[in-house]
Amino acid sequence: MKVAIVGTGYVGLTTACTLAELGHAVTCLDIDEQKINMLKQSQVPFHEPGLDELLKSNLEAQRLRFLTSARELTGDAEIVIVCVGTPASGTGPADISQLKHSVELLAPYLQPQQTIINKCTAPIGTTDLMGEWLKSLQPGTEWHPVSNPEFLREGSAVHDSFHPERIVLGVRRKVDLERALDLYRDIDAPVLVTDPPTAEMIKYASNAFLATKISFINEIANICEHFGVDVTTVAEGMGMDTRIGNQFLQAGVGYGGSCFPKDLATLISVAQEKGYTPRLLQSVVEVNTDQGVTVLRKLEKELGDLSGKTIALLGLSFKPHTDDLRNAPSVIVSQLLVERKAYLRAYDPVVSTAFTHLCPQVYLATDAYDATQGADGLIILTDWPQFKLLNWARIRSLMKNPVLIDGRNMLNKRVMEQLGFTYRGVGRIAPEPRRYKLRIL
Ligand code: UDX
Repeated sequence: MKVAIVGTGYVGLTTACTLAELGHAVTCLDIDEQKINMLKQSQVPFHEPGLDELLKSNLEAQRLRFLTSARELTGDAEIVIVCVGTPASGTGPADISQLKHSVELLAPYLQPQQTIINKCTAPIGTTDLMGEWLKSLQPGTEWHPVSNPEFLREGSAVHDSFHPERIVLGVRRKVDLERALDLYRDIDAPVLVTDPPTAEMIKYASNAFLATKISFINEIANICEHFGVDVTTVAEGMGMDTRIGNQFLQAGVGYGGSCFPKDLATLISVAQEKGYTPRLLQSVVEVNTDQGVTVLRKLEKELGDLSGKTIALLGLSFKPHTDDLRNAPSVIVSQLLVERKAYLRAYDPVVSTAFTHLCPQVYLATDAYDATQGADGLIILTDWPQFKLLNWARIRSLMKNPVLIDGRNMLNKRVMEQLGFTYRGVGRIAPEPRRYKLRIL
């Protein structure tokens, strides 16, 4: 099939590369000329594992093209997919101005028989609204854009794109359903067909539920600390119940990223606009906001006044395998540390100068050992797997004060204590319990 895609962020580009790999002829548009030039030369402008290879092979196979002109984009495309950013607008609903601008840009070249797919996460009703915009730009025509939310996780977007757990299609015309099914014919996943507002709500409800799981386990972790109970074992025991499931029960410094904070803010605000106060969702956000402060309080409890103290930060991205700093707990924690007049030494395997734009006071270390040199305390903010393999005895000897706050519960508490660290995790006050293998007949 011939597919046109608007937007080359991680969703747009991953979708484009995946569809090209599946054999479709894909043309991508972005108004950012510099970005398009990079992409034409097989350079991915952000860190996303596996995307470079996919981009290179599909450019070479000539299944992928990049443009900056809307005029050339849609021509004979059967499907036009819109994947532009819908950024946060404070605590209000997501900003859909880029989406509106894209529709205005494309309108002169679109035909009503083409299938228009909205992949952006935008307030419920936006896909139908796109149809209204098109109608007013081309009077006398009928438009029924499709909502096809994406569920890609940064850092594993390529895998998620080829192996989705479900495909959700919010459609109003049979022809669009047939084309959308054809688009994904080689993907082995159940398809749920519904109307556009329901598809949009599925996306919001899914992200809100995952965020709720994280705030739930963080709240349980905070309670665990009062009872000397280890939350990692509690989460393991809970997760054995298939009704609960074992994912998204990792307590820590809280969720960040470009989706959960923004999607919760949108859902809360659109509900309030309709006169409903979503108290549960408001609490999810509140627990998450406090979680960064909790980590800092632990540091203060061990070190007292942080003024003039040197604090090492390991991990800056909002999660491993990405360089994304949007709503990263590291940004909030460093701001609080700067307010307390602490000196910061930070290391992240992929984030570099972008962090200094957000926090100019930080010293960006060359590695974890450089970051921890002479530090009074250390906070782990991202669970990069390679941090487990560091020479922790060396880090212990480099630090002035061996206070280790594991904001991701990624290290073995007992081992760290044996090495001489004062170890504080999240919900892990108790010594790690022994595991007994009991078999009761
Ligand atoms: C999320 C959704 O998972 C994805 O389906 C949607 O399309 C976009 O939003 P993403 O933001 O890339 O994806 O990251 P995700 O892996 O969901 O993690 C979000 C945040 O939650 C990260 O900061 C992560 O560290 C945190 N998290 C996750 C926890 O604190 N505990 C957990 O158990 C899981």
